[in-house]
Amino acid sequence: MLDAGHTDEALLEVNNIEVIYNHVILVLKGVSLSVPKGGITALLGGNGAGKTTTLKAISNLLRSERGDVTKGSIEYRGNNIQDLDPADLVKNGVIQVMEGRHCFEHLTVEENLLTGAYTRTDGKANIQADLEKVYAYFPRLKERRKSQAGYTSGGEQQMVAMGRGLMSKPEMILLDEPSMGLAPQLVEEIFTIVKNLNEQEGVTFLLAEQNTNVALRFANYGYILESGRVVMDGPADELRENPDVKEFYLGMSDEGRKSFRDVRSYRRRKRWLS
Ligand SMILES: Nc1ncnc2c1ncn2[C@@H]1O[C@H](COP(=O)(O)OP(=O)(O)OP(=O)(O)O)[C@@H](O)[C@H]1O
Ligand SMILES: [Mg+2]
Repeated sequence: MLDAGHTDEALLEVNNIEVIYNHVILVLKGVSLSVPKGGITALLGGNGAGKTTTLKAISNLLRSERGDVTKGSIEYRGNNIQDLDPADLVKNGVIQVMEGRHCFEHLTVEENLLTGAYTRTDGKANIQADLEKVYAYFPRLKERRKSQAGYTSGGEQQMVAMGRGLMSKPEMILLDEPSMGLAPQLVEEIFTIVKNLNEQEGVTFLLAEQNTNVALRFANYGYILESGRVVMDGPADELRENPDVKEFYLGMSDEGRKSFRDVRSYRRRKRWLS
């Protein structure tokens, strides 16, 4: 499908990948997506849809979980990156901020941030300047710079995880579920920072989110995953207006989230009855 979001230069291309855990559990069943340079692309879907698996396939973190990409290819700037280890990827400008935040709890906020600069060879002064830049984007972290990370709030830990990623000067951030467990106001704050980093620093984002509503407000383009397949994709504003997306992802009914598959079988049933 060609559209405005996709005519831009693609930084990352995921072509029809299949992922299997433990040699038997087929989790991704042919996922393709394209992330344009300078954009914010959202990977949406409910629990277990395959969002984290897709991000880990890209950043080559599956092997430690006994997962394998068994089909398809993943290209960054046109080069196959499937054989790079995560440290090489960082050097290539791609970092992943994991789901669930993962700070070094016993280190201070500032020490955590500095661990993100470990691959850099451009000297202390540059690293210090970038630390100040991170503090400018995340003023809360500056206030808490001397606090032990384990004692900061969930939102602050999410900021530490993102700030640490930024310290490697990434071109692209794979951001897994930044809204998880955070109050709406803090979610808004985090997504606003994502938008600012994207616009002012030119960082490209691929972000996985269950919170379709907020993700589609901040992203340019979205892919909806269900059971390891992309069931719909499009520019974020079109997805927001799509009746099925509205019904099944934006308006949470009392019964919880339904899936497109439920809609289809429901429609079939309705045809039978009428
Ligand atoms: N290491 C693993 N071994 C076996 N199965 C796994 C493993 N990790 C994930 N899975 C399975 O793969 C499927 C996709 O999981 P994944 O974590 O990618 O979903 P997700 O979209 O990120 O969900 P959530 O929104 O809950 O984080 C799930 O059915 C999950 O149980
Ligand atoms: Mg996940």
